[in-house]
Amino acid sequence: MDAVFQRCIDPACNGVNDLSDTSFLCPRCGGLMDVAYDWNRLTPPKSLSWFESKWSQRTNPLAFSGVWRFRELFPFAPPEAVMTIGEGQTILQQADVVAPYVDMKPGRLFLQYEGMNPSGSFKDNGMTAAFTHARMVGARRAACASTGNTSASLAVFCSATALMKAVIFIGSGKISYGKLAQALDHGALTVQIAGDFDDAMQRVQEVARKLGIYLVNSLNPFRLEGQKTIMFRVLEALRWEPPDWIVVPGGNLGNVSAFGKAFGELLDLGLLKRVPRLAVINAAGADTFYKLYEEHGLRWNQGKPDVAKSSSYFGKLDASDSRASTIASAIEINRPVSLHKALRALERCNGVVREATDQEILDAKAKVGSGGLGCEPASAASIAGCRKLRQEGVIGADERVVCILTGHQLKDPSATVAYHSADQKTFEEVLGKRGVRRATYANRAVQVPNDLDEIIKAIEVYS
Ligand code: F0G
Repeated sequence: MDAVFQRCIDPACNGVNDLSDTSFLCPRCGGLMDVAYDWNRLTPPKSLSWFESKWSQRTNPLAFSGVWRFRELFPFAPPEAVMTIGEGQTILQQADVVAPYVDMKPGRLFLQYEGMNPSGSFKDNGMTAAFTHARMVGARRAACASTGNTSASLAVFCSATALMKAVIFIGSGKISYGKLAQALDHGALTVQIAGDFDDAMQRVQEVARKLGIYLVNSLNPFRLEGQKTIMFRVLEALRWEPPDWIVVPGGNLGNVSAFGKAFGELLDLGLLKRVPRLAVINAAGADTFYKLYEEHGLRWNQGKPDVAKSSSYFGKLDASDSRASTIASAIEINRPVSLHKALRALERCNGVVREATDQEILDAKAKVGSGGLGCEPASAASIAGCRKLRQEGVIGADERVVCILTGHQLKDPSATVAYHSADQKTFEEVLGKRGVRRATYANRAVQVPNDLDEIIKAIEVYS
């Protein structure tokens, strides 16, 4: 066996595939795969602060990338294979302006802003890794199903490198214009399916298998290797001192799975002594993970989850043709592909799951905006969830919390404009049908006649 390979996540199964396999499914049981490392034959660093040696190498693209500068912690690719477009130059904001909203003191709440990536979302962290693997296996076409950000990221990587053709599957009318614009502008073949994300996810797997197209959804374990680095950057920004909590929105559950793997490996390698707790926040209209974990008590159970619980849950969804529905379209997902990996992550990091209504998500989003960072609705679920966990006392007043802002504000301006709009019709059209009743933190535009005196008067009154 090579030092790097793919291994089934079920510890009892232990099915393996070569590094080059692109089915991303266990050959024995059909389950999810991890990228696995035989660390004894590799050279992981002796301490996390060792990575600081990369800070002085900004002209080396592999040291500049916020992903690849940590490549010793996911060493599956030779340096010459790496496809980087400068992803991962993101920041951790000490969010003292937002902190009171979640009942926290200054210096305790941080926002990890992944909207700064080239395609405007955290997906670039994983895409650079998957794209590198795709290049290693000689792929010419890459496909994904998407609620918009994975497809935008794939389109950007394909167009920036001209190495592959992007084929993307989206639910018709299910992605925001900002993201659709990216897919189109960057030249992806865009297949709009009469259905939602869960339908598109199903189809893209069938099509990828039939046509031998490389799949870049988070089913692809190489994606998750890249997404581990979001946590490495958080640690880096906190000078390698882990926070008490990481709060992340949950959709297909790739991110939380990657975070759990990252922390598990850091513990195993002796690079951390303590790991943060993980909190995953679902939208209330797409709350499969919340229901299964918090209400039905589904657990990883050391690799033996009670699959009868999830089968019966999904059976009921099918029987009632129940569809995910939320203004946070990025996480409008009822059948998370990485469910089992996410359960494993929560076991490892003592996790919890909560749900947030669209009202709570949009209010939290406005608060994040007033603190200087712009995020899309799905991202704000992390703040809405953090607030709830503070109210419940699950997160303590003195704990240090990092909420992940997964995507940029300009991805979905219609939700933002509708929230702040003074026009009741716009509000109702976009938000009313989602059960949003109020825009408590709205910043309304001021309407004035085209008259100097009136304009000056309005500014004096309102500023
Ligand atoms: N936030 C944003 C902005 C997203 O785009 C997504 C997922 C998530 C959170 C949820 O992350 O799936 O790892 O739990 N978007 C996917 C897509 C599904 O197709 O772009 P997750």
